[in-house]
Amino acid sequence: MAIDVLKMGDARLLNQADPVTEFDTPELHELVSGMIDTMRTLNGAGLAAPQIGVGLQIVLFEVVENPRYPDVEGIPLTVLINPVLEPIGDEMKEGWEGCLSIPGMRGLVPRFTKLRYSGFDAHGKTIDREVGGFHARVVQHECDHLQGILYPMRIRDLRNFGFSSVLFPGKPCPEE
Ligand code: NI
Repeated sequence: MAIDVLKMGDARLLNQADPVTEFDTPELHELVSGMIDTMRTLNGAGLAAPQIGVGLQIVLFEVVENPRYPDVEGIPLTVLINPVLEPIGDEMKEGWEGCLSIPGMRGLVPRFTKLRYSGFDAHGKTIDREVGGFHARVVQHECDHLQGILYPMRIRDLRNFGFSSVLFPGKPCPEE
């Protein structure tokens, strides 16, 4: 069942999230399944637990490949708990981002182009991946939510922040 997503301005989006201490519990699986439904219902590329008012270090993301948008790479559904990010190198690139907590807006945000991320899935199984490009961007965006950081806080030049319908008329792109 889809859950309401908190919008920017809600103080709960600014809190530091706590680590998950118990894995593979019915409560955790129920929470994760509600988050997946919410992300898919709202056509998001990702969702972090603080966005539904749960202060735990849980993010998930998924991008289904769509032949209509060949420049958007697919990302398998990933549930990432207690994540640790390590940038590989120091190269950063700016790219457009949106957020389910800031509907209808897009901003140009610098992110590391390559990184390693690790953590656990809901069963407590280890995840350890090296990724780049859009995948790396989505992970950084979602994990920022666990530290109370929303993407506009990272925009270098606020002239690159606006309504997606104005910036990209007629061209939908995924919310994060
Ligand atoms: Ni977001």
